[in-house]
Amino acid sequence: MQVFETIGAMQEWCLEQKKQGLTIGLVPTMGYLHQGHLSLVQEARRQCNRVVVSIFVNPIQFGAGEDLDKYPRDVSGDCRLLEGEETDAVFIPSVREMYPEGYATFVEMDGSITNRLCGASRPGHFRGVTTVVSKLFNICLPDKAFFGQKDAQQVLVIEKMVRELNFPLQIVRVPIKRESDGLAMSSRNVYLSSEQRRQALVLSQALQQAGEIIGQGERDPAKVIAGMRAKIESAAEAQIDYIEIYRADDLGDIKQIEGQVLIALAVKFGTTRLIDNLLVEV
Ligand code: PAJ
Repeated sequence: MQVFETIGAMQEWCLEQKKQGLTIGLVPTMGYLHQGHLSLVQEARRQCNRVVVSIFVNPIQFGAGEDLDKYPRDVSGDCRLLEGEETDAVFIPSVREMYPEGYATFVEMDGSITNRLCGASRPGHFRGVTTVVSKLFNICLPDKAFFGQKDAQQVLVIEKMVRELNFPLQIVRVPIKRESDGLAMSSRNVYLSSEQRRQALVLSQALQQAGEIIGQGERDPAKVIAGMRAKIESAAEAQIDYIEIYRADDLGDIKQIEGQVLIALAVKFGTTRLIDNLLVEV
C-alpha cells in the first residue's frame, strides 16, 4: 500500500493508473476508521481496479465551537486496517497542503438540499464538504467515488454537485453499517460515556418504529415525528436537534408520506452529536 502526503505525488500516481487503463475507486474519509468506512472500501475493491482512500480531517467543514480539535485520529491504526482491505493507495495530506496560505476558492450549493437538516444546524458545513470533495476528485481522478448512506444528506449533495459540475465519475451509495444492537457506526461514538452509549440506542429504535408505523399505514409525517420524539425523549440525556421527513431525492417538503421519503435525525448526548436516518418507500 502506497502512502502519499502531497497532492502532486498522489495525482501523478492516479494519472499513471489511468494511463494503464485501470479504474480508480475513491473513498474519502476523515479517518479513525471503523467497519462502516471499511464497507465502503470493500465495495470499492469489488468495483474498481485501484482503491484510493483519503484521510483528511477537513477543517473548513467544522463550525466554530465544533469538535475539530478533538476529532479522534489514529493514522497508523487506519493504515493497518486499510492494508487488510487491500487498499492500493492512501492519501493523507496536511491542512497546509490542501489549503495553502491565501487559499480562496470554494464550491457552494444553494437551495433546500443544503439549507435543511444538518445544513441548518451547521452553517457552512456543506460548503466545506463540497469544496474538499471537489479537490479530492481533481487530485485522485476516480471513476467511482463511494459514500455512506449514514450521511444521507451529504451523499445527496455530492450527487447533485457531480451532476451540476459535470464531474466525469459515478457516485456509489453504500448502506449504513450498524453495531449489533442497532447504533449506526460513527467515529464520534467513542465520545459517548457508557450510559450515553446505552441511551443512544433510542435513535435506531425510533427510526425502526417509524418504519413500522408507516408500514401499518400511517401517512401523516407529523404523527410519525411525534412518535419518534416521544421515544427519543425517553432517554434522559438526549437533546433533539432535528427529526424531519422529506422527499428522498431532493429533500423537498411533503404533506403526506408517499413515494420514497428520508426520515432523518440529529440528537446530542452531552456534547456528542449523532445522526441517523432511514429511507422508506411506500
Ligand atoms: P467520515 O465521517 O469519515 O465518513 C467517510 C465516509 O464513511 C462517508 O461517506 C460516510 O457516510 C461513511 N460512513 C461513516 N459511517 C458509516 C456507517 N456507519 N455506515 C456506512 N458508511 C459510513 O463524511 C465524511 O467523513 C466527510 O464529510 C468527507 C466526505 C470525507 C469530506 O470531508
